[in-house]
Amino acid sequence: MKAIRGRRPAMPLMDVGLALILVALASPFAGAQKVELSVDASKPGAKIDRNLFGQFAEHLGHGIYEGVWVGPDSTIPNTRGIRNDVVAALKALKVPNVRWPGGCFADEYHWRKGVGSQRPATLNPNWGGVIEPNTFGTTEYMDFIDQIGAQAYVSVNLGSGTPQEAAEWLEYLTTAQPTALAKERAANGHPAPYKVNYLGLGNESWDCGGNMTPEYYLSQMKIYTRFVRNYNPEQQEKQQMLKIAVGPGGGEPRWTEWTETIMKAYQHHTWSWDINGLSMHSYTVVKWPPAYKSVGFGETEYAQILKSTLEMEDLVTKHSTIMDKYDPQKAVALVVDEWGGWYAPLPGSNPGFLMQQNSQRDAILASLNLNIFARHADRVRMANIAQMINVLQAMILTDKEKMVVTPTYYVYKMYVPFQDATFLPVAFDAGTYTQGDIKLPRVDAIAANDKTGKLWLEVTNVDPNRAAEIEVGLTGVVATSAAGETLTAPKVDSVNAFDAPHTVVPRPISAKAQGGKLILKLEPKSVTVVAVE
Ligand code: AHR
Repeated sequence: MKAIRGRRPAMPLMDVGLALILVALASPFAGAQKVELSVDASKPGAKIDRNLFGQFAEHLGHGIYEGVWVGPDSTIPNTRGIRNDVVAALKALKVPNVRWPGGCFADEYHWRKGVGSQRPATLNPNWGGVIEPNTFGTTEYMDFIDQIGAQAYVSVNLGSGTPQEAAEWLEYLTTAQPTALAKERAANGHPAPYKVNYLGLGNESWDCGGNMTPEYYLSQMKIYTRFVRNYNPEQQEKQQMLKIAVGPGGGEPRWTEWTETIMKAYQHHTWSWDINGLSMHSYTVVKWPPAYKSVGFGETEYAQILKSTLEMEDLVTKHSTIMDKYDPQKAVALVVDEWGGWYAPLPGSNPGFLMQQNSQRDAILASLNLNIFARHADRVRMANIAQMINVLQAMILTDKEKMVVTPTYYVYKMYVPFQDATFLPVAFDAGTYTQGDIKLPRVDAIAANDKTGKLWLEVTNVDPNRAAEIEVGLTGVVATSAAGETLTAPKVDSVNAFDAPHTVVPRPISAKAQGGKLILKLEPKSVTVVAVE
């Protein structure tokens, strides 16, 4: 055969065959696990409430101070003391709500110390015993959530505070009438009443919130729901403030008893008390105290943590079943307002600051949990990952003027289309990923229709070693192609560091339909979100 000028002579046929085999073996899709997946667009389910993508920001370590608040005199670019880089990054996540000021901190927080020009230094006994300067208080929190476009989820102090203190805080925040507290708010720079959309009635009252029995908590909680009122005229008919009671912290009998007590009382609640949500806290920790490393681990720890995180499914089911007994209409939401991976503190850090790195394992952990919440969207209508910045499974890490976004951040960004989308049933045989004696479903997936009718599909390939080839069949819709983003990483413990911020970043992915089916090729340990056209 005549060689074409400027090109190498054509390969003999046998060599071509060998080359093809070698290319195939080198491809990340060699030996890909084939999975048939079908989406039924003709059977829409519950709305995936955008509040499932809520955040939690406690006065803990560098979560608020340094993470959000640097003060107006800082050399770090800021708007009224709040970091511009952090605000810009969070805006891209369309954060629906931010739970504040705690956590355990909330039950020792006295709001009056955090308003006005005189802010006394107090202590933060829960978290390292450090000074709490109170420079970030009500005005600054409201400014922050306004800057990122989120709604307020304020947790009031039911542990060491009084109903009167909490009632006055809400009056200060929400009254339009010229009461002394409303005038004080105006003098502090905000004449118009604020909106408070969600009210937390204590935090972990069975533990750091006061070690209460369920019966004792119930009687306290009823008093708070009666007297802690929202006066904002715009929140009387529509956008009423939703009240969230403390709920369980696990699946053991003491937690099922807690849920039983609150929900049984709710069944017979009267005009003078009401709740709209029951909080649940569940961290992926394997065992206390948290000992798993957040970086510098291998496949065994990857599998152990993911096995543990999947227990969220049983936990949600267990407490939803109790709630169904007393509230079959599902009026009370299950609010998973603290969840995420909780690992050993980073070496050299203050253990009370709960600082940890965030790896590709956390990206997979986040998608698996978000998918569980989406599948239970009829009951689980709010969830808040712990915590937003510099604490536990964070979206963002900062170090003075430096900022980096984590693999978990990218999962939240990729899931934005699922906010307020309508759940669609997905059927698939997940197969099994095995590591030692641990067996996990190899893949996971959800689908939903957004408000414009566009169909979105998320598929997680849990297996860190084998690619997956997903053959997507659709009922009730004709697909020609799909396009979106996929997030994977070189290793299970790959992280984004300040000096290497782009190790784990999403990349574009697309697929064409063949014979009415979409073929998606997913890399090992990946999270993928595509829009189906
Ligand atoms: O998120 C850290 C702590 O974990 C919270 O303050 C508390 O509610 C939980 O135990």
